[in-house]
Amino acid sequence: MTVKEIFETMDYGPAPESAADAFAWIVDQGAAFGHFLDGTWTKPRKDFQSKNPANGETLADLTQASQEDIDAAVKAARKAQPKWEGLGGHGRAKYLYALARLLQKHSRLFAVLETLDNGKPIRESRDIDIPQVQRHFYYHAGMAQLMESELPNAQALGVCGQIIPWNFPLLMLAWKVAPALAMGNTVVLKPAEYTSLTALAFADICQQAGLPAGVVNIVTGDGTVGEMITTHEDIDKIAFTGSTEVGKRIRETTAGTGKSLTLELGGKSAYIVFDDADIDSAIEGLVDAIWFNQGQVCCAGSRLLVQEGIAERFHSKLKARMATLRMGNPLDKCIDVGAVVDPTQLQSITDMVDGNTDGVLYQAPVTLPVEGCFYAPTLITGLAPSSKLMQEEIFGPVLVSTTFRTPTEAVALANNTRYGLAATLWTENVNLALDIAPKLVAGVVWVNATNLFDAAAGFGGRRESGYGREGGWEGLCAYTKPKGTAKALKPVEAFSGDKGPVDPLDRTAKLYIGGKQARPDGGYSQNIYGKNGALLGQVPIANRKDLRNAVEAAQGAKGWSGTTGHLRAQILYYIAENLSARKEEFATRVNLLTGGKTGAAEVETSIRRLFTYAAWADKYDGQAHGVPIRGVALAMKEPVGVIGAFCADDAPLLGLISAMAPAIAMGNRTVLVTSEAYPLAATDFYQVLETSDVPAGVVNILTGSHAELATPLAGHLDVDAVWSFSSSPLSQEIEAASAGNLKRTWVNNGCARDWLSAEGEGHSFLEASTEVKNIWVPYGE
Ligand code: NAI
Repeated sequence: MTVKEIFETMDYGPAPESAADAFAWIVDQGAAFGHFLDGTWTKPRKDFQSKNPANGETLADLTQASQEDIDAAVKAARKAQPKWEGLGGHGRAKYLYALARLLQKHSRLFAVLETLDNGKPIRESRDIDIPQVQRHFYYHAGMAQLMESELPNAQALGVCGQIIPWNFPLLMLAWKVAPALAMGNTVVLKPAEYTSLTALAFADICQQAGLPAGVVNIVTGDGTVGEMITTHEDIDKIAFTGSTEVGKRIRETTAGTGKSLTLELGGKSAYIVFDDADIDSAIEGLVDAIWFNQGQVCCAGSRLLVQEGIAERFHSKLKARMATLRMGNPLDKCIDVGAVVDPTQLQSITDMVDGNTDGVLYQAPVTLPVEGCFYAPTLITGLAPSSKLMQEEIFGPVLVSTTFRTPTEAVALANNTRYGLAATLWTENVNLALDIAPKLVAGVVWVNATNLFDAAAGFGGRRESGYGREGGWEGLCAYTKPKGTAKALKPVEAFSGDKGPVDPLDRTAKLYIGGKQARPDGGYSQNIYGKNGALLGQVPIANRKDLRNAVEAAQGAKGWSGTTGHLRAQILYYIAENLSARKEEFATRVNLLTGGKTGAAEVETSIRRLFTYAAWADKYDGQAHGVPIRGVALAMKEPVGVIGAFCADDAPLLGLISAMAPAIAMGNRTVLVTSEAYPLAATDFYQVLETSDVPAGVVNILTGSHAELATPLAGHLDVDAVWSFSSSPLSQEIEAASAGNLKRTWVNNGCARDWLSAEGEGHSFLEASTEVKNIWVPYGE
């Protein structure tokens, strides 16, 4: 192209980045890679290839890991872990800092390798992926440094198995490896089969940094290798990013194994444009929301919701912008849209779009390169909210759109999805923005911006987008556990008896559902005896129908989640006051039930615990993260929703209160299943609740068999989290049944907790009662 022609067309000329150094690095490594185990490379085999999706050329040969490779990797990681943790925060910080420096030094090599392997435009790998990777290592070098002073009760989990996808290969590695190493864990990481090269180059960097052998192990291969990691007995934690389908399978296979689990899965994130938005900015935002990385982004703003009055103008401006998107060789610095990762993914996008007959399809008039995996930027307008493409993740450069009339309708449409990863909203009205952001069920909300990420702001989802956060202080929870070793929980057996009632009056307790005492649906009750065999009373045996009623009542009490912490504190104090008025009676009841002498201590601790969470109700604050933009990321703590809990068997009153109080203090509604062996203290407690202004449906209490109710409660799609402190072995059942809607679980894996001590309360309960939502608010024009 001549200078004259350039002036006439005002078009960009080609500006390709050289791939010479990247190819030289591949050749230098023999163009074939083994696994990086215990600080050295295994002999490479040519089991599969990494290909450049922009032209189909083979980049390198890779090795499919065997079970022996995985065993060796886990063994190396296990051996290296105590020494690595023992280095202390400063010792580890120095290595993380060295890794960050090396990543910076070789940033161009990493950017080009990423673009070659994945197909993303070099502009993105160079300006977004790789700088974010470096930032993640720097940030977590700081976390390692601060661990001892700021997290004095935390320790490493041990060996972490990490499985990552192909859309941000090195960035996902950084999100997983940096916090794990910072907290003293060692890792076995598997990159996605399409994009292993930058992970292998990272192994090279680990060697250069002199990282102790076994701290980072990288194994390559497909999903079967992933499965070998998730099912390995000697791994303490699994961190997975990928599809919701595989995430659910991992939840099922790890159920009951005691492995800690975080899942970062799919999304169908709403991009809401109100009629007072700065339309041109909102359109530029959309380019970054859905055509960034060819739309292969878990939090892509893939569902456009535009207010009716501006819809026509918005769509026509959007089409005009789409027509200017440049597509082609991803190594060209002027390219906006590169190649889709693999022919399989291209086929899946094509099939989904071709299979749709709803709405009106528009495709950008781009000339597709003759070879390679390219898909034209696509917009489908006029879709019904129930349309398949409105609900299913396409994971390609395809935007679907519908309109709304009112803010309330926008929220309803945005939340009408099984996912809950991210949302974007555009409006010039700050009141509207800050009114809507908390109402969106999403882990991240961007206001007048989109796809902003930073190591300081936790990223992660709700609902079927998974759980756990990556980044920020909250991300560290996923890589630590409390100090100390847990004791085994002994089963608590109910007493049997043949004596008559202690009190001749009928003491048949009921269930407590929707603020009312309710008879059980099945009409069955069971006798509860004291240690001496005397009949203390009868309690209903709740069945699935009672459980469904309790969940419905909890769902109906949504207003509680919108109340202020101050109001919730008042109610918790009031419960404590009313319990205190009946102290002796409850203490006697607890002693009769357990045959022990802890009654008075249990009641006293219950009152204190109610005070503790009344205190926390208006003090468990969020944070304003110092992200590197002119603006803030507000980490807001929100209630999880409806929490079901199997209460401790050995502490009939205190066990109930220890689960109920943090949950309701944080704005959740609860379905509590009482101690199975000693349920009567909880049933007496109904009267305390009734006189304490607790709104109907906030606390629902069931009595009966834990084992019978575990699967129905954990499988109920309207329950958001299930906890188990039961002495019955429910952990496996609950975790497996939770996979249906990926509800959060907190189970005891057979470990005891001393409810009378500080172990029975505190931050872990507050964390389990809240979800962190990061709301990004940039400042300025
Ligand atoms: P995937 O979920 O199958 O793959 C992600 C990672 O998991 C890869 O490393 C893969 O080897 C591994 N894996 C696969 N099966 C496994 C198993 N049973 N156990 C353990 N690990 C396993 O995703 P895939 O097939 O590459 O893409 C399919 C769809 O998933 C995409 O179209 C997209 O909708 C979604 N996806 C979402 C991502 C996200 O960031 N949320 C990332 C990648 C894909």
